[in-house]
Amino acid sequence: MEDMIRWMLLILFSLIFIAEARLESKIFNVKSYGAVANGNTDNSVAFLKAWNDACNWNGKAQVFIPKGTYMLNSIVFKGPCKAFRMGFVIKGILKAPPYPSLFNTDKWIGFLYVNKLTLSGGGTLDGQGASSWPHNNCNKDPHCPTLPITVRFDFINNGKIHDLKSINPKGGHFMIFGSENVKLERLKISAPGDSPNTDGIKIGESNNINITSATIATGDDCIAMISGAKNITIFGVHCGPGHGISVGSLGKNDGEKDVQNIVVKNCTFNGTSNGLRIKTWAASLSKPLRASNFLFQDIFMDKVFSPIIIDQAYCPSHGCSNQVASSVQISDVTYKNIKGSGSSEIGVELNCSKRKPCQNITRVDINLRPYGGKGQLKSLSSFVNGACYGQQIPPSCVG
Ligand SMILES: *[C@@H]1O[C@H](CO)[C@@H](O)[C@H](O)[C@H]1NC(C)=O
Ligand SMILES: *[C@@H]1O[C@H](CO)[C@@H](O)[C@H](O)[C@H]1NC(C)=O
Ligand SMILES: *[C@@H]1O[C@H](CO)[C@@H](O)[C@H](O)[C@H]1NC(C)=O
Ligand SMILES: *[C@@H]1O[C@H](CO)[C@@H](O)[C@H](O)[C@H]1NC(C)=O
Ligand SMILES: *[C@@H]1O[C@H](CO)[C@@H](O)[C@H](O)[C@H]1NC(C)=O
Ligand SMILES: *[C@@H]1O[C@H](CO)[C@@H](O)[C@H](O)[C@H]1NC(C)=O
Repeated sequence: MEDMIRWMLLILFSLIFIAEARLESKIFNVKSYGAVANGNTDNSVAFLKAWNDACNWNGKAQVFIPKGTYMLNSIVFKGPCKAFRMGFVIKGILKAPPYPSLFNTDKWIGFLYVNKLTLSGGGTLDGQGASSWPHNNCNKDPHCPTLPITVRFDFINNGKIHDLKSINPKGGHFMIFGSENVKLERLKISAPGDSPNTDGIKIGESNNINITSATIATGDDCIAMISGAKNITIFGVHCGPGHGISVGSLGKNDGEKDVQNIVVKNCTFNGTSNGLRIKTWAASLSKPLRASNFLFQDIFMDKVFSPIIIDQAYCPSHGCSNQVASSVQISDVTYKNIKGSGSSEIGVELNCSKRKPCQNITRVDINLRPYGGKGQLKSLSSFVNGACYGQQIPPSCVG
């Protein structure tokens, strides 16, 4: 009997020991792997070694980048990891090589197939984009290069990106793709207002993504939600300059997925070309698609060219061939407590598809006035079903 108790205790203690070993956390400092913070030496090999050791650690692992400026070539940090939690802490500045070395790669820093990944540290990601921007505006040219996005999360579950700065990307700043349960908090994103194709945060084919307290000043969309973006919450984002918060563009290619359940609350737009925009291509070749269940609430606009816009005839390059009405069905969209000023003549533009009129577009307490001027903004509305409540300036419910 005593022997048995002794054995049971032994087994119990062994189990506790194993559990604790599993929980042991370890820091993998890139400097111990030969990283040099002189701003010119490529550190990709050192960073990859640190990542691989961290990823294979049987516990909680953290890749640590201390203060200093580290040049880093295009790189992918891959899982799945043995570590049950991965941290990537950037205290220093990461610098991309200048043009043209990263052209025709789709990302500068990629994270792929990782569960429980946190990127943080208060550091800066500098894409050194200025030398590439003159080459970014060539969408129609077959030799137009792919633009590298500063950070891509591809197939990341339970991720977090917080307290980081992204400046001057070559392409977009952040892209979340094929991922679930990702939070982005307190990001500071900046690039000049005229830098082409520098989207702030782009989300596609992902579920349950939250963005809070971001400051986004860039040359393209602040936040863009494209095919397959679902259950997105955006709260406390300040946007400008840039092209605003966009759903779409949708309906260009077959195989696109619905976009559903989006909440945008307590956000400010300053000097942006759009505020809240839903855009679908004019030349809609794709199968029917739904964009539905959006709430835009408590939004302040300062000098925004198109504060509220649904554009189902989106065609930025002109000469879209095959101009049929869009087959994207937009429904259940609420705009509530939207205030401030517009800088064009039109405050509310709802240009829906003749083929698929917008359904259940609700407007509650809209107060948009001309920037710095008197009089009223206009509204434009076609193929819209829905209702208006409370204040409506400009009046946008007709009939
Ligand atoms: C995002 O926010 C929504 C609403 O507040 C919440 O239900 C959801 O769990 C959050 N998701 C994540 C990944 O934080
Ligand atoms: C997300 O959206 C889908 C439908 O688009 C829904 O079925 C699901 O319950 C939502 N919530 C979460 C947390 O995934
Ligand atoms: C709304 O967002 C701003 C940041 O843009 C923040 O300071 C403020 O506290 C938020 N309001 C609420 C009610 O959380
Ligand atoms: C918008 O920007 C201008 C100038 O940069 C500034 O004066 C103004 O206070 C800002 N408005 C808001 C709402 O942040
Ligand atoms: C209209 O949209 C609102 C908000 O999305 C939703 O609660 C309501 O059920 C919808 N009404 C109809 C008739 O579909
Ligand atoms: C609205 O959409 C139609 C196509 O459906 C297009 O011809 C028209 O130019 C659009 N109006 C505006 C103001 O964009």
